[in-house]
Amino acid sequence: MRIEDYPEWRETIESLAETGGTTLILGGTDTGKTTFCTLLANATLERGERVAIVDADIGQSEIGPPGCVSLGLPDAPVAALSQIPPARFAFVGATSPRHHLLEHAVAVRQMCDCARSSQPFLLLIDTTGMIQGPAARRLKQSKLTLLQPDHVVAIQQKAECEALLSPLRFSDAAKVHRLPIASVIRKKTPALRAQRRAGRFALYFQNAETRLFQFDEVAMSGTWLNGGSPLPTPQRKTLISLLGVHVFYAEMCDRHLGVITNVMPRDQDHYGLIQEQFRQQALTITPAAKLRHLLIGLADQNGRTVALGTLESLNFRTREIGIFTPLRAASAVKLLQFGIVRVKPDGTEVGANLPGDV
Ligand SMILES: Nc1ncnc2c1ncn2[C@@H]1O[C@H](COP(=O)(O)OP(=O)(O)O)[C@@H](O)[C@H]1O
Ligand SMILES: [Mg+2]
Repeated sequence: MRIEDYPEWRETIESLAETGGTTLILGGTDTGKTTFCTLLANATLERGERVAIVDADIGQSEIGPPGCVSLGLPDAPVAALSQIPPARFAFVGATSPRHHLLEHAVAVRQMCDCARSSQPFLLLIDTTGMIQGPAARRLKQSKLTLLQPDHVVAIQQKAECEALLSPLRFSDAAKVHRLPIASVIRKKTPALRAQRRAGRFALYFQNAETRLFQFDEVAMSGTWLNGGSPLPTPQRKTLISLLGVHVFYAEMCDRHLGVITNVMPRDQDHYGLIQEQFRQQALTITPAAKLRHLLIGLADQNGRTVALGTLESLNFRTREIGIFTPLRAASAVKLLQFGIVRVKPDGTEVGANLPGDV
């Protein structure tokens, strides 16, 4: 990768490599954000300065696995960001921020805080291509507020980033650099993007094995599961007769009733009877298929994600959950962070839940 091939960006890259600071890259998909990050990181490293890169693109991740925001601390120029091993990553659990704006913003801030503790000359934040619509505006605005960048680089064909940039119009903290898409940049098809993502997941899971965790020895987040007390068998049997489907497990946490079934009940006619019987305020019915292959973050006692896994088994009799993960030191895991995307061991995505499904 040679800067000479990107004459449209050269001046900005040279000037940013000289000034450093926190630099956020914005642009649609395939506008060259990651290429720009690589060129700028390399130019800065060549000057002998320290660089930290936060890869916030949870779909087309380069530094860590997809579904996470990763921090890379390169010590020499690289041909691609994917050559940088992740120093840390924070779990988001989705491969698009659309339904996970909060988790995404939190993870980006966590990784930037971590990056800043190593006092880099340049902190670069590469982002997803989600720039259109109200959700994108909310997310990018939150990132600007949370990260307080010194520089915002917007790569656009016409004016696609202007709605995101408008709140910065009178800002004297963030300097905006508008750049065109470099002529050598090529578009990837959605199929190729999915294939690249599957490849990144597969690479991450290549030496993984299924490890069992006891319900009573790990906390769980992003799910109702394991938050309350299991319903005794007679009550579970009542649910089976009221719902007309098999109930593997049910749990009451405060006034929320969570139920794992073999399939989704066909009609909701009996929900009133369940309410009468169980006095719950909210009811979540989770068909078991929504849990299968679910992406899970494995975190330590401080909530730091140490590895990724996928949910492969649940045994409600022995109260064990089986997670497919390359992590060896499983005893450090104290929190299982439930995501929404479901990924098979070969890296292919088999679906995604909506927040609240599990
Ligand atoms: N010099 C180049 N010649 C050919 N293709 C390139 C060159 N530089 C970048 N690309 C391609 O352009 C595509 C989009 O660039 P990328 O930096 O991944 O964009 P974004 O991060 O905005 O999605 C990538 O597939 C990349 O391989
Ligand atoms: Mg990219």
